[in-house]
Amino acid sequence: MPNETSIRHVEQGDLPALLAIYNYYVRETPVTFDIEPRTLARRQQWLDGFAPAGRYQCFVAVKDGEAVGWASSHRYKDRAAYDTTVASSIYLAPQACGLGLGRRLYATLFDALKNEKIHRVVVGITQPNPASVGLHLAFGFELVGTYREVGWKFGRFWDVGTYLKSTRDES
Ligand SMILES: CC(C)(COP(=O)(O)OP(=O)(O)OC[C@H]1O[C@@H](n2cnc3c(N)ncnc32)[C@H](O)[C@@H]1OP(=O)(O)O)[C@@H](O)C(=O)NCCC(=O)NCCS
Repeated sequence: MPNETSIRHVEQGDLPALLAIYNYYVRETPVTFDIEPRTLARRQQWLDGFAPAGRYQCFVAVKDGEAVGWASSHRYKDRAAYDTTVASSIYLAPQACGLGLGRRLYATLFDALKNEKIHRVVVGITQPNPASVGLHLAFGFELVGTYREVGWKFGRFWDVGTYLKSTRDES
């Protein structure tokens, strides 16, 4: 699959496929702490937050004309002093996991962001998630702390590890 799969910026037409991927993880896993599936309208707001340049970008992996996953950067917090920090997100359809696409998506995203004024990238990972932890460590993220039992889903509490990546922009 990886060689037949291309990576490009997200487009409007990708939204239904990306929504279906996200809602799979909402329904079936603790990876996201959303509990109710997102609507298309709500996910549209998410899509509208990205641009082809700047700090907040989204790339998709496309196979046979359909998006099978994305990697994106988002505003971390509203207050302006946080502008040099972004949060990242990466999700692949279950059948697209473990094939190197996560690595390709993040490589493309971080390359696109390399000239932006970004000093830190933050991600929260519900524990356990060895694939996500492995990918983030491979891209230079470091564990800065674990929030114990901050999520309640599927009848139990979940820990979230916060991981931080330093970028080349040290100004
Ligand atoms: C997490 C996720 C994005 C990783 O993408 P992927 O395409 O499966 O990962 P890749 O095949 O590109 O692997 C990249 C690296 O991640 C690490 N990795 C991947 N799967 C792993 C696993 N099961 N265990 C440990 N490390 C793993 C390895 O370091 C790997 O590099 P290597 O193949 O050179 O050893 C993907 O599995 C996914 O979408 N999972 C479900 C949703 C999710 O958990 N999203 C993250 C939320 S924080």
